[in-house]
Amino acid sequence: MKPTINTPVPGPNAAKIVERDTAALMTSTKTSPIAAKSARGVWVEDVDGNTFLDLTAGIGVVNVGHSHPKVVAAVKDQADKMFHFAGTDFYYDVQVSFAERLAAALPGNFDRKVFFTNSGTESNEAAIKIAKHATGRQQFIGFIGAFHGRTIGSMGFTASKPTQKKGFFPWMPGVTHVPFPNPYRNVWGIDGYEDPAELTTKALDYIEGAFQTMLAPEDVAAIWFEPVQGEGGYVVPPMDFYPKLARLAADHGILMAADEVQTGFGRTGKMFGQEHYGLESDIVMMAKGIANGMPMGAVAARAELDFTRMGAHSNTYGGNLMACASGIATLDVLQTEGLVDNAATVGAYFKRRLTELADKHDCIGDVRGLGLMLASDFVKDRRSKEPAPKIANGVVSEGMKRGLVLLPCGKSAVRYIPPLCITQEEVEVAIAILDEAIAVASA
Ligand SMILES: Cc1ncc(COP(=O)(O)O)c(C=O)c1O
Repeated sequence: MKPTINTPVPGPNAAKIVERDTAALMTSTKTSPIAAKSARGVWVEDVDGNTFLDLTAGIGVVNVGHSHPKVVAAVKDQADKMFHFAGTDFYYDVQVSFAERLAAALPGNFDRKVFFTNSGTESNEAAIKIAKHATGRQQFIGFIGAFHGRTIGSMGFTASKPTQKKGFFPWMPGVTHVPFPNPYRNVWGIDGYEDPAELTTKALDYIEGAFQTMLAPEDVAAIWFEPVQGEGGYVVPPMDFYPKLARLAADHGILMAADEVQTGFGRTGKMFGQEHYGLESDIVMMAKGIANGMPMGAVAARAELDFTRMGAHSNTYGGNLMACASGIATLDVLQTEGLVDNAATVGAYFKRRLTELADKHDCIGDVRGLGLMLASDFVKDRRSKEPAPKIANGVVSEGMKRGLVLLPCGKSAVRYIPPLCITQEEVEVAIAILDEAIAVASA
């Protein structure tokens, strides 16, 4: 199957929706004027009858594919029984079952407890309170380039683009940001692909230096990290960085808080991104792919980190019946239909084909990522690595005209995060369109 584009995008029906949306909805982060009507698997149909190959999955959400029949059936069945009952105040089996299933799916042979939220940022907010409450400490370490959300607490950690924070001070104080060991572009000018060990050493030395100059380690509650930096540009650190960081944290009684909002639920070719590094993080923040499109998030923490008093934290919608039913069905599909393995194998194939595109187009400086969390970084010049956001944005819009749904990330990258059911043939369709889109955007 190939995309079918019959009208300019937006077509006449989409244009009307875009106009009404602009008038009715607050300014957010709109990227492309694609107005969806329906979707299945990796294919999206818009309101003008155009079909697109979706390389965004609702920003890394519909991991098992749009409207997977088993997830649809579970949600319909739950809707017939009950929508909502307030799982923080009362009891029902679907919520307990999902919490048990989530805890069992996470790496680590220890007891975990779960708190359900409604989004990624809310999972981060809850995790901040868990870390503060459990340790009695108030300070945190976060990474430059990180994205953890846009609310006042999570924004304290977010450090990928100034627009996310401009004019909103004060956000939560107490986060010391340290440089991330980005192999492609880092403050030390190290080629981290050639010399990952040196990059790891430099990044850890920086933190040790901070402990000796400006931040008492015994004040630090947790280190906040993304297994693969997402919004900041799909950056994979050297493989030994996180294990060494975890040992450093343990030496000082500091918790490791893994933000798996984007890397979770099979996205990177393993159920959770931290599994690539053998990590078993104390606190794990989740959302996006957790329920395949039902608004939901969760935090799972070591059982001993649980709140010790009622009312320290709660919410209204967390553990909503519909979202839990969708989450259980999503986990069933991920664990029985081979989609995590598909993300690993088709992801490796996709990355190889993207690397071949980079051999052809000088404007691609780097191809990176794990599983089906991939990106191409566009540059003005390969030697200086100067970002070329115009080319990246051009690829997104030229791709759209030819039937791809795409999103940028970082300063000048385009990300590829399709539903995990994408096939090698569909990757070939994407590559052919990207080839054309890159040629036009960089001309
Ligand atoms: C790693 C990470 N954490 C947190 C968030 C925030 O999630 P949400 O938009 O659901 O609040 C995102 C969203 O992109 C994310 O990628």
